[in-house]
Amino acid sequence: MAPTTVLITGANSGVGYATTQVLASASEKFHIILACRSLENAEKAKSEIEAAGIKGTLSTVQLDVTNSESVKQAAELVGTKFGTLDVLINNAGMGSQNPDVKTRFQETLEVNVIGPAVVAEAFRPLLLKAEKPYSIYVTSGLGSLAAASASGSDFPGADCYCTSKAALNMLMMREWVAFKSKGLKSFAMCPGFVISNLRGKSEEARNGGRFGQAEDPKTSGELVLSIIEGERDSDAGGFVQKDGVWPW
Ligand SMILES: NC(=O)c1ccc[n+]([C@@H]2O[C@H](COP(=O)([O-])OP(=O)(O)OC[C@H]3O[C@@H](n4cnc5c(N)ncnc54)[C@H](OP(=O)(O)O)[C@@H]3O)[C@@H](O)[C@H]2O)c1
Repeated sequence: MAPTTVLITGANSGVGYATTQVLASASEKFHIILACRSLENAEKAKSEIEAAGIKGTLSTVQLDVTNSESVKQAAELVGTKFGTLDVLINNAGMGSQNPDVKTRFQETLEVNVIGPAVVAEAFRPLLLKAEKPYSIYVTSGLGSLAAASASGSDFPGADCYCTSKAALNMLMMREWVAFKSKGLKSFAMCPGFVISNLRGKSEEARNGGRFGQAEDPKTSGELVLSIIEGERDSDAGGFVQKDGVWPW
């Protein structure tokens, strides 16, 4: 039987790494492609996850979401190797704290919005060849306009980070409306507040820093698993989190 192919951008750390672990441990049917801007980091993550013992299989591809040529080459490689792609997870993300507002917005939107748009367009033809394709955009509750109007959460770089995730939600919505009739199920998925390099690489920052104790990123991986196993199909086109949905 052909494997269920899953491509995860930014799979070498945090949510992407843990999602790879969860899927690869869940079933031998999954083949996860770790798509990372550093092939060396992708190979390191692959070896570590394999060494822990997994049921599924892994491969790696170099993909920098800000480099259209690398995205195109990765899509060609996946097309040649597998012919289709069952699940695309636009996970790579960052938050710039550059003091210059224009630079801060450019850096953040390039990775968190323009990158996913380029990746989605490059891989969509492969998704549309799959029997039951899923397209997951890893967003954040911080992209919720409703939540922002209620609490106005603040931290360095919140302006561009929150804006980028609201824009990412719109990107997902446009894909959902345009392609749902072709069978593509799109989701904006908030991974929760989890341990990762997003807030910095020190132990304190990884664990949540001044925001409190972050959860194990495997909880994000379990949410991805529930989506691609069809358990959240009734929420397709929505802004999902593990306990329900976020208001837009
Ligand atoms: N952690 C949380 O609490 C939380 C909450 C809400 C949403 N999120 C979202 O979850 C997603 C994953 O973040 P994370 O928390 O797991 O942080 P992370 O540990 O910093 O992981 C981010 C990943 O994105 C990659 N990346 C950054 N720029 C890239 C580029 N130009 N091309 C390809 N990959 C690139 C990073 O690669 P390098 O290692 O090479 O830098 C890394 O693999 C992000 O979209 C983030 O906004 C996280």
